[in-house]
Parts: sequence; C-alpha cells; structure tokens
Amino acid sequence: LAKIEIKLGDIPEGKNVTLKWRGKPLFVRHRTPEEISIEQGVDVASLRDPQPDSDRVKRTEWLVVLGVCTHLGCVPIANAGDYGGYYCPCHGSHYDSSGRIRKGPAPLNLEVPEYEFPDDETLLVG
Ligand code: FES
Repeated sequence: LAKIEIKLGDIPEGKNVTLKWRGKPLFVRHRTPEEISIEQGVDVASLRDPQPDSDRVKRTEWLVVLGVCTHLGCVPIANAGDYGGYYCPCHGSHYDSSGRIRKGPAPLNLEVPEYEFPDDETLLVG
C-alpha cells in the first residue's frame, strides 16, 4: 500500500499544504501556538462529533487529515470559515483547526489517516 513521506521543514508555521494520497487530497497543517491553544480549550461536549484535540493529533503542532468533506465529499478550503480551520464551499460546512465539524451539514470530523513521525523532520502517512 502506498505511503507518502513529507519533509516537515518544507511547511512553515500557519500553513496548510494539500497533497495527494491514495487518490484523495491529504491536508498537512503546521498549527500555530494560538490554534493549538484554541483547539485544546474547546468544550468537547459541545461538539457534534465529540473528540478532544489530543485524540486527533500525535504532535500538537501537526494536524494530518483527509481533505474530504464528510458531507458529500467536496474538498474544503484551508484557513477559511467561522472556526479558522477549513470551510467546505459546496454546502457550507465549517471545520476547526483540529478538523472537527463545527457548523453546517457535515456529520463527522475530517478523517485522520494512519501516520507516524519516524524522526523529528519526517511525517510518514499510510
Ligand atoms: Fe461539504 Fe456538502 S460536501 S458541505
């Protein structure tokens, strides 16, 4: 099965890159300290698909999710929407910078794929 290797040094803080992995868009986001603290402070009980940020990331500064809206599969836009994470323009779903659904028709959070950090500089997805 195809794995993809990403050099973390290529992604500056605050930036989201979109890659292609197994035929789907993959988002890798280098979160800012402010984004991390906002997402860690969210009241999980208030979420539609309740998941603490700590269950969605392996290293707080890196979010790795599929760029596939859980409503009907459009590709959300990064750094957009009411929660600063992602916005799906097809029917108006808003995701936070943990990839969690916060507003709009999508039922679930953006999917987190299998991944690991083989060393400090590298992300391996798949
Ligand atoms: Fe994203 Fe409908 S496909 S809101």
